Order: sequence, then C-alpha cells, then structure tokens
Amino acid sequence: DERRRGDAVCPGSLIVVSNRQPYRHEYEDGSETDRSITVDEPTGGLTAGLDPVVQQASGTWVAWGDGDADFDVANENGCVTVPPAEGAYTLRRIDLCDEAVDSYYYGFSNRVLWPLCHGFPTLIDDRTNDFEWYRTVNERFANAVGDHATDDAVVWLQDYHFALAPRMIRESIPADATVAQFWHVPWPAPSTFQHCPAGGRILEGLLGNDLLGFHVDQYADRFLDCVNRFLPAATVDKNRRTVRDGGERTRVVATPMGIDAETHARDAESADEEMFDALCSEHGLPDLDETVIGLGVDRLDYTKGIPERLAALERFFERHPDWRGEFTFVQKATPSRTEIPAYERHGELVRSEVERINSRFESGGWQPVVYTDEYLEEAELCSLYRNADVMIVSPLVDGMNLVAQEFVAASVDDAGDVLLLSDRVGAHELLGSHAVSIDPTDVDDFADRIAHALAMPAYERRRRLDVLRERVFDADLDRWMQTQFDWIRRVHQDPRSRGPD
Ligand code: G6P
Repeated sequence: DERRRGDAVCPGSLIVVSNRQPYRHEYEDGSETDRSITVDEPTGGLTAGLDPVVQQASGTWVAWGDGDADFDVANENGCVTVPPAEGAYTLRRIDLCDEAVDSYYYGFSNRVLWPLCHGFPTLIDDRTNDFEWYRTVNERFANAVGDHATDDAVVWLQDYHFALAPRMIRESIPADATVAQFWHVPWPAPSTFQHCPAGGRILEGLLGNDLLGFHVDQYADRFLDCVNRFLPAATVDKNRRTVRDGGERTRVVATPMGIDAETHARDAESADEEMFDALCSEHGLPDLDETVIGLGVDRLDYTKGIPERLAALERFFERHPDWRGEFTFVQKATPSRTEIPAYERHGELVRSEVERINSRFESGGWQPVVYTDEYLEEAELCSLYRNADVMIVSPLVDGMNLVAQEFVAASVDDAGDVLLLSDRVGAHELLGSHAVSIDPTDVDDFADRIAHALAMPAYERRRRLDVLRERVFDADLDRWMQTQFDWIRRVHQDPRSRGPD
C-alpha cells in the first residue's frame, strides 16, 4: 500500500474548524522576565492526523486559542502561520473570555450535548445562558470562517461544539463553497433527543451542512429519525440518507474513523525494554515484568465504564484466586473536564474503588490495580500498549473509540495480545468479531471473559490479532480522510444538491 501520512487530497480550499487547536503557544513557566514561548505540537488523534493534510493544502484552521501566549504571537486578526519553523497554513484563533469558555465549552457542549449524545439524559445540566453563549461562540467561529472562505472553499467542521455554525456559515459564504461536518460522538435515539434544549435549532443548524458524517450506520439512522420526528417540515429520504430542509440538501453518511496506525506501530517498535523500565520507575509503577499485564487507557469520563470494569476485575479476582499476584491491571486515566461536577464525582468514585479493591486483595507488595493519572508522552503510551497482554476497552457508550485501535497497532510482538471490547462502541463494528466482545454492565460475564482472555492459547491470540491488525491498518486515518474528501467532491459536483430535485 503506497499511502503515506497526509496524502488525502481535499477538493478545494480547505478550512478546518475544531474546538481544540493543533498548536498552542505558552509562556515557559518560571522567570517573569524571560518570557520564552514554547509551542505544543499536535499529539495523536485528529489534530495530529489533520495537520499534514492542512499543511499540504495550505489551508486555514479555525480553533479556540487556549494557550496563554496564543494572542501575543498572532496578528490583530488572531492569525498565526504554523507549523512554527516551516509555516504552511494559517491558524486562526478565536479568543474566548472565561464566561464564554464556562458556558459554551463547560456548559452547553459538555453539560448538555455530551451527556445527551451518549444517552445520559439525567446528567443534562442546562444552565441559564449556556445555550445563548453556545450560539454566540458558534457565530464567532462562523464569522471567522466567512473571513477566509473563497468560492471553492471546503469548510470541514469537527464535532458537537459546532451544531449551529453550519447554517450560519452556509448563509454567509459563496454558494459554490461546500460545508461539511463530522460528528465524532454518537447520535442518540429520538426518545433521548427529545430532552435536548433547543433541539429543533440544533437540527436546523446541522442541516446547514451539505455533508454530515457519523462513525456508524446506527448514528446516521438515528439522526434521520430525529429530523423526521422533530422537524416535520424537512423531507427525509432514509434510503438515500438525504434530508431536504428548504432549498438545500444534506447528505448523511457513515464513515468510521481510523488512526495513524503506522506511527503507533513505529513508536511501539522503538519502545524497548529499557524504555518500559524507565516509564515504570518514572511514573511509580511497580515492577510489572513479574506479572501478566492488563491495561485500560481512558479519559476520566463517566461514559468510559471504568467503575464497571473495576467491578468485573474484582469479581474475577474473587473467582480466580490463582491469578492473584500473577496478573496486574494498569489503569491509565486522563483527568478531563474536571470543572463539571459529574466528572469530579466520577473521578472520586474511580479512585475510591481502586483503593477499596486494592486493600481487599493486595499481598506481599502486589496490588491488583495500578492506577495513574500522570501525563504520558505518545511514545510512552505505545510502550504501555506493547507491554500489555490484555487490553480492556469497556465504555458504556463511545462514538468510535480510538484507544482500541491504538492498542492493536502497537501490539507489534509475536506473542499475540488480546483485546476485550465493549459491544457498545463504534469500533465494535470493525473489531468486535476478533476481539473478546463484552457487555460492560454484565459483571459476571465480564469477569468470565477476562479469565477466558487470559487462558486463550497462543495460536488463537495470534490468529485474532492478525485480523485485527489488518483491519486497523487498512481502515486508517488517511483512508478515513480520503473517504470524507471523496464524499465532499461528490456532494459538491452533484447538481441536485442545490435547488429542487
Ligand atoms: C472526545 C470528543 C472530542 C474531544 C475529546 C477530548 O473525543 O469527541 O471532540 O476533543 O473528547 O475532550 P476535550 O473536551 O478535552 O476536548
């Protein structure tokens, strides 16, 4: 396969819009007089994957400038050329005041849309003014896009932070330009979506897109069901997956996202024993060489099913005392959105459960669960993936889940590692058949499947991992981007997109 990073070709002048920015400028802490500026490079995930594509296209990227030196290096319009050394594109930063961040990001995005889309309507916290700020911030992003949009512009928005911007953009940029969005989180069923404050406006906003992408068919179908039910004036064609709302047409597609598998495999290959030992001693992990290693890697989020996973591990050690002292589960957690009470409570629950389970089973220096929430470099993470024998990915719901794919790509040794994968994540469609599939809420069955994974013969582990690797390398990030751009080209060229059918 001849594909390389950044090979996906955009059919126009690319403008990417995302909440998180690819580069962040910060003042080095310490000296007040030496105001040296450091730049974070994009690490992992979408920003790292898109960066070479935007570079190649000499495009524009619009994002929230959240670094303390961001606006000191930008011009009066908030623009800076990145990457810093060999600038190739314009990063247009949006400056958000504290109130905007609190209401748009910590508020409507993460207290309303996040729990709603993940099917936790009871966690929705719709505070006064949050929607209004969400609208204002969407408008500011839309105006910024307008400043850069040419006739052949391809505006590509990312995720749930921008449900209203597509319509605002559509109405203000040249008619020949294309507006597309990828929704990285699940889309809920109508019975859940009915709890969405301003739900009709959210749907109308999204229908400003010419193309709207989801990871899997189920989310695309549910979106169409919601439009059908809550926007009676729109015409939905479920077979063709199109919606006509007024004059324009939105095409809805399911295109599962992949990872930069090559880079993960390369990082894992260079992560030798020495690096793993250094990682363990630096982050206070015990001598893991002595035991079989299980691994969980998650943002500390209530959707990730960490308490359920700990309950299954507890049940497993109860039923399989032989494994005590022989198997250690490492949980790497990344604190996230901690200003939101539901996240704070969840973090406390996870930490106290780890403590309780450890005090129940620990003996002779061994602990069943090693928990760390320290920051790890990408290469260190790949070292953890490579050294783990069993990976547990058990969200209660997750749009895709890229961690499962990262683990597979980084499993470069012959031994054959096992992936336990929740049947409620988008990645299950791709990997479920050759992972050990789990229902994250069925404690007994989950515990049995951990035992099953640990007892799996080497040839069986190898056979499954080979298939998983083939799929992850084949459906990688570049392929996903190329698929998006192919769709964008199609909707752009299709004369029926605009005007009557
Ligand atoms: C999910 C969302 C992303 C988001 C990421 C990290 O994967 O789909 O849009 O960037 O979580 O969350 P954060 O709130 O820190 O950006």
